[in-house]
Parts: sequence; structure tokens; C-alpha cells
Amino acid sequence: MFDIKGKVAVITGGYGVLGASMARCLAEQGVHVAIVGRKPEKGEPLATELSAIGAEAIFCQADVLDRDALVAAREAIVAKWGSVDVLINAAGGNMPGATIMPDKSFLDIDFAAFNGVMNLNLMGTVIPTVIFGEQMAKQKKGSIINISSMTAQSVVTRVVGYSASKAAIDNFTRWMAVEMAKKVGEGVRVNAIAPGFFITEQNRTLMTNPDGSLSDRAKDVVRATPFGRLGEADELHGAVVFYASDASKFITGTVLPVDGGFSIFSGV
Ligand SMILES: NC(=O)c1ccc[n+]([C@@H]2O[C@H](COP(=O)([O-])OP(=O)(O)OC[C@H]3O[C@@H](n4cnc5c(N)ncnc54)[C@H](O)[C@@H]3O)[C@@H](O)[C@H]2O)c1
Repeated sequence: MFDIKGKVAVITGGYGVLGASMARCLAEQGVHVAIVGRKPEKGEPLATELSAIGAEAIFCQADVLDRDALVAAREAIVAKWGSVDVLINAAGGNMPGATIMPDKSFLDIDFAAFNGVMNLNLMGTVIPTVIFGEQMAKQKKGSIINISSMTAQSVVTRVVGYSASKAAIDNFTRWMAVEMAKKVGEGVRVNAIAPGFFITEQNRTLMTNPDGSLSDRAKDVVRATPFGRLGEADELHGAVVFYASDASKFITGTVLPVDGGFSIFSGV
């Protein structure tokens, strides 16, 4: 029931730290992978690496906020492999200007930066979901996997815009799950993974000191995590395969924490 060999997966932000790890996992399972991102110099080498693992892989250049580029990517993918079975919306992250540092307050919220991070994370999930979801609706089959965050449900200081955008992704996940079920049928499912804390490009300055050691904030995160550590990217693989496969075929609209217990711990 976990067999996903031969499926076609699209991963936005596919050369990011978490996206690339998921892409490698899918390639190892025999999935054809399309990496969607803005920079060919990062996407092309990853596609070559994935092709060597076994399945076919391509890079499609598109910003997740660019409808026309995403339509072109979809057409190229369908022309090559005939379907889109899995979409992982992994592009996104926090932006430094949208963070309220400890010496600042709500009065310092930069509205443009807040809007920017909302747009990237929310619309950067909504737009690809619509473009690739249209193909899944035609097929009456597909699995959409959004990426939420611990910040969506409980308060994590500083990251006000990012938190709002991820809470909106949880809501959109549920809305789209019902929409697809009612308008298309149970073949198209929409779920989300809520990762705990992993050191990646978009949070490196918050989580590490210039010398690479854990920042005080990262140490606070570790203290608030029952497992007492940060996550490793490959610890998201199980959730990805679960949602991409028939193992989850009666499951839609859910948000699965993969967080070492962070989300269920009071901290005491
Ligand atoms: N790292 C964590 O602890 C953590 C926790 C929870 C959720 N997440 C989420 O996981 C996802 C992946 O992030 P990551 O942590 O691997 O960070 P990352 O910075 O390594 O990867 C994010 C990728 O998104 C791409 N991207 C950004 N804007 C884009 C755009 N407009 N169009 C196309 N691509 C764009 C970036 O180029 C990058 O490759 C994000 O949604 C992030 O919010 C991360």
C-alpha cells in the first residue's frame, strides 16, 4: 500500500533543504520527479542527480507566484509523463524583514514585509495547487501535500507574518480537501505536513550563530521539544510517502505534525 513507484511528483521549492530531501526520497522510491523553482543553476544539477538514482527527473523554471510559468511547467510535465500524481508545495519560508526581533514590538511590524511573507507562503501554495490540481481533477486522482509549520497552531515569537501565512495554509488545506472531495471525488486528496524545527536556508540566521553553533532561540526550541533535538530532513520522508501513497487513501484535510513532540508539549 506504500508503493509509489512510477508516480509523477511535482515539488515546488524542490532544491530547498527540505524539498530536495523529499525529492531524493521519492526518486529512491521510483517516482518521476519534477523540481519546480526559480534558479536553473540549482535545479538542473539536482534533476541530474535524481535521474542517476533511478527514476526520471526534470527541472522546470517557475516562481510559485507566476501562474503562466506554472502552467508551462504543468504542460511540460504532462507531455513528458502523462500525469501529475503528487504535488508537494515546499516553496516558502520566513523572510528576515518580516521578523520582530527582541528589541522591537508589534509597533514595528513592517506591513510590506508581512504582506510579502503572506503572499509567498499562502499564494505560493494556492496558485500551484490550482494549476496542478486542475490536472489532478481531470485524472480524478492525485495527492496534494502542503507544508505547514509549528507556528500555525501555537505562538512562536518573532515570526508574526510567517505564522499567519502557515495558519492560512492549514485552513486552505481543509478547504481544498472538501472542494476536491465534493467537486471531483475521493481520488484527489489534500493534506499537510507540519514540520517541527529543521535548520535550512530560510531560518539559518534565526537558528544558528555566525560560527554555526545553535542560537539561543534554537536552544529554546530544543528545550520545548520532548525529543530534545532538532529534526533531520529525512525524518519527513515517512509522512511524504504516507500521503503520496494509497496507505492514506481515506485521509484528506489533515495536518500531520512531524516534530519530536513539540506541538503536544506544554514546556513544563
Ligand atoms: N526548516 C524548518 O524548520 C521548517 C519548519 C516548518 C516548515 N518549514 C517549511 O518548509 C518549506 C521548505 O523550506 P526549507 O526549510 O527547506 O527552506 P529552504 O529555504 O531551504 O527552501 C525553500 C525553497 O523555496 C524556494 N522559494 C522561495 N520563494 C520561492 C518562489 N517565489 N518561487 C519558487 N521557489 C521559491 C527557495 O528558493 C528555496 O529553495 C517552507 O514552506 C518552510 O516554511 C520549514
